[in-house]
Amino acid sequence: MSVRIAPSVLSADFRKLGEEIAMCDAGGADWIHVDVMDGRFVPNLSFGVKVIDAVKKSTSKVVDVHLMVLEPEHYFDDYVKAGADVLTIHAEAAPHLDRQIMRIKELGAKAGVALNPGTPLSAIEEVVHLLDLVLIMSVNPGYGGQTFIDYSVDKIERARFLLDQAQSRAVLEVDGGISRDTIQRCWRAGADTFVAGNAIFGAAHPQQEIAMLRNLCSEHV
Ligand code: DX5
Ligand code: ZN
Repeated sequence: MSVRIAPSVLSADFRKLGEEIAMCDAGGADWIHVDVMDGRFVPNLSFGVKVIDAVKKSTSKVVDVHLMVLEPEHYFDDYVKAGADVLTIHAEAAPHLDRQIMRIKELGAKAGVALNPGTPLSAIEEVVHLLDLVLIMSVNPGYGGQTFIDYSVDKIERARFLLDQAQSRAVLEVDGGISRDTIQRCWRAGADTFVAGNAIFGAAHPQQEIAMLRNLCSEHV
């Protein structure tokens, strides 16, 4: 199973965003994760279309946009135009999941659904065959640098089972508190794509950290 490391630009130094992304790109990042927050679905504001556009222009990697917003459908068109390759919406903020997933796909992007720690996996059961990505949140979304919630590992295991049962090839991504201490448990539980903000941008050598995180997801460890 392939492993993808997705640095979250939320923890980057915004004085030099382009350089930070180019550094991750050169350092072996597979995806670049962009956190959009509206101050309503989550208690924090981050950024929107202009940053997605800037990220797209700074990387050749997949631009993975995580929408922590209410009524996410208002943003689909603009964000795909700006360069989002993957758009992930939250099940808690998307009462018309089927319609919203289909719209993302219609625009030519990959469609993902994220689940907060307190949201059961059953929230995606009916639409699992439509999904390109399932995102298990291992913190309550809103901020970088939070502590990994241990019981997420069990949910990743169950999500892997759900995907396998549906014969789905969807990406299984985990986001929040991913570090040297937590990544291996998530990988063993069946995740294949790992978002990391603080662990990468807070490291003395971010490129080495990307390699280190990837190495920890190896059969031999
Ligand atoms: C949290 C965001 C994450 C965040 C992860 O709400 O969705 O993507 O940037 O940051 P770390 O890896 O520092 O927990
Ligand atoms: Zn995120």
